[in-house]
Amino acid sequence: MPVTVVVGGFFGDEGKGKILSYLAIHDNPDIVARGGVGPNAGHTVVYNGREYKLRQIPSGFINPKARLLIGPGVLVNPKVLFEELERTKEFNVSSRLGIDYQVGIIEERHIKMDQELKKEIGTTGTGTGPANAERALRKLKVGRDIEELKPRLTDVPGELHKAVEENKSILIEGTQGTFLSLYHGTYPYVTSKDVTAPSILADVGLGPRFVDDVVVVFKSYVTRVGPGPLDNEILDEEEIKRRGMEEYGTVTGRHRRVAPFNKRLARRAVMLNGATMAAITKLDVLFPKARGVTRYEDLPKEAKERLEDIEDAIGVPIKLISTGPDVHEIIDLR
Ligand code: GTP
Ligand code: IMP
Ligand code: MG
Repeated sequence: MPVTVVVGGFFGDEGKGKILSYLAIHDNPDIVARGGVGPNAGHTVVYNGREYKLRQIPSGFINPKARLLIGPGVLVNPKVLFEELERTKEFNVSSRLGIDYQVGIIEERHIKMDQELKKEIGTTGTGTGPANAERALRKLKVGRDIEELKPRLTDVPGELHKAVEENKSILIEGTQGTFLSLYHGTYPYVTSKDVTAPSILADVGLGPRFVDDVVVVFKSYVTRVGPGPLDNEILDEEEIKRRGMEEYGTVTGRHRRVAPFNKRLARRAVMLNGATMAAITKLDVLFPKARGVTRYEDLPKEAKERLEDIEDAIGVPIKLISTGPDVHEIIDLR
């Protein structure tokens, strides 16, 4: 804090939802603002024994005092958004949520168009690619065109700059992952825009000089949904299950492909995002004795050695270590 941006270091699903929800509770930001592509993302938040899967609402919603914002760069599917507001009612999200006048709007026909791309390049089929294409043609509807969004519309960059001037703290949420970036990823098997930290800042309308920390989140191993290159992919289903690495997509339910931690990609993600620190999730999958540990000294020796090895390779300190899905299962070395 005071201004922190969190992004994914591999192919999405690194556990950003977990890290963001922890930061939202622990650092108590005044504002949590979401950048990224749109409802193709699926963040998982596990809090007080309940699991929330979100595609539009910021993962920081569990802090009842935080103002929640969705930046102009993001695509919104109003149907998905209203369904999530219903599911998170107990947190009073509705009264705290502001959506920028210029968010792009996904309509049914974008979702239909995306089914073709789903077959060709394995998209999530949520309409984000066709909507961003139409946005580039300057034909897409935006927030201010949608009657039902009117009561929530706001100037997100304006709110953020006012907060910065008042020395308030801001948490900015990225979605997807560095190698799904349209510019820096494994083209054409990528998402429909850049998703590295500079673009996440542009999505919410905050200039880089106001940012104190850039956190890149890595999973302890690499997963990827859909086609595209994946170095050293583990193809043996039995081995994946035995090592506890079996996962299914939050949005699509698709099987996530698995590979060991990739230091080369991690180093490049640190470079592309200008990371000041890294977060590592799912350490408990590699080292079951790490499950639920909250103090570094309580980690098994092999887990500490692995973390040191990764730290040496990527060149920035690992300051957040997630040891289970719950918000509180974490080691915070900041
Ligand atoms: P995108 O925005 O779609 O890229 O997703 P994400 O980065 O928020 O990750 P997602 O929630 O899709 O997937 C991460 C999965 O790992 C979820 O099921 C989390 O509950 C789980 N998870 C996160 N951290 C940990 C951890 O430290 N240990 C374990 N066991 N599970 C974790
Ligand atoms: P699209 O973003 O739906 O167009 O999909 C393009 C590629 O990005 C596909 O390989 C998707 O599986 C992947 N993708 C998009 N969003 C996410 C995400 O949040 N997590 C993981 N993969 C994603
Ligand atoms: Mg996900």
